[in-house]
Amino acid sequence: MITRLRCAIDSATALLADAGINSARFDAEELAAHLTGTERGRLPLIDSPDDAFFDRYHAAIAARSQRVPLQHITGTAAFGPLTLSVGPGVFIPRPETEAMLEWATAQRLPETPVIIDVCTGSGALALALAHHWPAARILGVDDCNAALDYARKNTAGTTIELLRADATDPGLLTDLDGHVDLLVANPPYVPEAVQLEPEVSQYDPPHAVFAGPDGMTVITAIIRLAGRWLRPGGFFAVEHDDTTSLSTHELVGSAGRFDDVVARTDLTGRPRFVTARRNGGTHE
Ligand SMILES: C[S@@+](CC[C@H](N)C(=O)[O-])C[C@H]1O[C@@H](n2cnc3c(N)ncnc32)[C@H](O)[C@@H]1O
Repeated sequence: MITRLRCAIDSATALLADAGINSARFDAEELAAHLTGTERGRLPLIDSPDDAFFDRYHAAIAARSQRVPLQHITGTAAFGPLTLSVGPGVFIPRPETEAMLEWATAQRLPETPVIIDVCTGSGALALALAHHWPAARILGVDDCNAALDYARKNTAGTTIELLRADATDPGLLTDLDGHVDLLVANPPYVPEAVQLEPEVSQYDPPHAVFAGPDGMTVITAIIRLAGRWLRPGGFFAVEHDDTTSLSTHELVGSAGRFDDVVARTDLTGRPRFVTARRNGGTHE
């Protein structure tokens, strides 16, 4: 790696660590890679960047040290096999949701399945599922225009359908009752009083993060929708806060509409999502 660039990355790493950022080295390298138009692993191979690069790099590091999320500075977020466009107004997809994606793609679905991603945000899950099941009919639902603007951009050129709707509306999309093969949801689920890192509290839309005093408002509504929309044998997965695994598991189990109700962990081993299969019971 060029000496001046390496020095700049080392100084940036120290600055970001002082600002309380745990991933300081990764972020310093990622921003250098973004601004030079390369991948992090290729930084040692690039030609010496010009002065204009260093001006832009210092500005990017200054922003990151103010706890602006890395993804808002680069304008992109990695999710599974994809890179998504993100920014102010939309929730940044998280690596923990990839565990739910991995579970979903391991299920056996019909050749042209019907899939719904409730609370789709940037469209992350809908797009990753379309990548896995290209012939699927996939619907992404969100009630926020700013999020849907990003989802529209990310899903352009695909057959994914996007709908602005409130998942707590009990009469939502009754024409899908009993026809859905897979429903996934990463809804807002943080209990209201919880204190969060500045990147989350100041940059993720609160509407995408919090869901009532116990974090269960939207999850409860989605469990009802899953009971109605899924065909018998259809698959359901919903992400939750790491403090609400038990209550989510109990709610799904007590709905009387699901079998195989399982509490699952994310890649770091924290309780993170519940999965189930629609049983043969009647619809509402
Ligand atoms: C935690 S974010 C998840 C976004 C995306 N699924 C992901 O994993 O990156 C939750 C999303 O739910 C949306 N949302 C919140 N309440 C909703 C509701 N009642 N109905 C529909 N969407 C809702 C927010 O706008 C936000 O985009």
